[in-house]
Amino acid sequence: MSSAAVNPDFWKGKRVLLTGHTGFKGSWLSLWLQSLGTTLRGIALEPPTEPSLFNVARVFDGMEHRIVDIRDYAAVRAQFDDFAPEVVIHMAAQPLVRLSYREPVETYSTNVMGTVHVLEAARHVASVKAIVNITTDKCYENREWVWGYRENEPMGGRDPYSSSKGCAELVSSAFRSSFLNSAGIALATARAGNVIGGGDWALDRLVPDILRALEKDEPVLIRNPHAIRPWQHVLEPLSGYLLLAERLHVHGQVYAEGWNFGPRDEDARTVQWITENFCDLWGSGASWSVQSGEQPHEANLLKLDISKARQRLHWSPRWTLDTAIQLIVKWHQSWRRGQDMRSLCLSQINQYRS
Ligand SMILES: NC(=O)c1ccc[n+]([C@@H]2O[C@H](COP(=O)([O-])OP(=O)(O)OC[C@H]3O[C@@H](n4cnc5c(N)ncnc54)[C@H](O)[C@@H]3O)[C@@H](O)[C@H]2O)c1
Repeated sequence: MSSAAVNPDFWKGKRVLLTGHTGFKGSWLSLWLQSLGTTLRGIALEPPTEPSLFNVARVFDGMEHRIVDIRDYAAVRAQFDDFAPEVVIHMAAQPLVRLSYREPVETYSTNVMGTVHVLEAARHVASVKAIVNITTDKCYENREWVWGYRENEPMGGRDPYSSSKGCAELVSSAFRSSFLNSAGIALATARAGNVIGGGDWALDRLVPDILRALEKDEPVLIRNPHAIRPWQHVLEPLSGYLLLAERLHVHGQVYAEGWNFGPRDEDARTVQWITENFCDLWGSGASWSVQSGEQPHEANLLKLDISKARQRLHWSPRWTLDTAIQLIVKWHQSWRRGQDMRSLCLSQINQYRS
């Protein structure tokens, strides 16, 4: 069954507030929302990396761009009052596991209290109808088992990042039953897998680490070659978030719950598999080896069960992991050649939609 399509008629002219629009996923989503003709405002800190997709693809060109710290409730509230959004997509976060070991306080204050601030502001603004809160596949209590996690399984998280996102899920659930349902606002949470795509320069993430090494003609150093993750192209979960927001806006509470957006089962691959595929496509004698030394704990086995999104949203992944890797290598090599990356992103979005 092919995946349901995002409905351009729904999005045209909608007032959408997106948090985290200067980040990797937020930049791709901003471009997609711009191409759909939404009235879009983004609130976030400055882009988290240099270079950044936000600047490289001139994402700021087609939207209202505001620098706001979501740890500051008054500042968040002022944006909601001023903009009066109909749809809110919350993805601003400290998203890195290894950084969360170094900066647990910042991680919890952004990911937990930042979420409280966004939901608290939203409930006081009458225009808001639908909220999608982006958490992660790591919000589940990881049991290192071979099955994909289902939406009704316990929240958990051993490292501060995963735990903070489990907390953001609990916050969402409490806000839903305490305030949002009665205010006529439908809130869902979305749990995606390990997202890859052109324009990610984050530290300590596999694909950016691979590309940094390949550019310098150095061997790629990987930490956990046998770790399995649900890898997917960034446009896959973004299409899920958009479909979900449409359903929440049109049908309300029926869709106001947690949703997994992961890859096909066969695309839950090892770190080694991904690395070898990048090295093969890059050519010119690229190689990899295992990084020595003690590393902080990260889960070894993580998969998502996407039966619910397939069944009830008619969402399913469109691109294989092979396609995703080819598109990333093409994106990265085009960027190195100085091509127009805004056009290339928009053309990859069109390719995905068609
Ligand atoms: N990239 C992945 O593989 C992945 C997988 C699952 C879930 N997620 C989730 O998706 C979301 C986006 O991730 P990403 O990879 O684009 O991350 P990113 O680091 O590229 O972007 C994070 C965004 O959040 C903003 N931000 C951070 N702290 C802030 C604060 N205090 N106030 C306001 N804005 C702040 C940054 O400015 C940036 O716009 C996050 O919620 C992340 O947890 C990412």
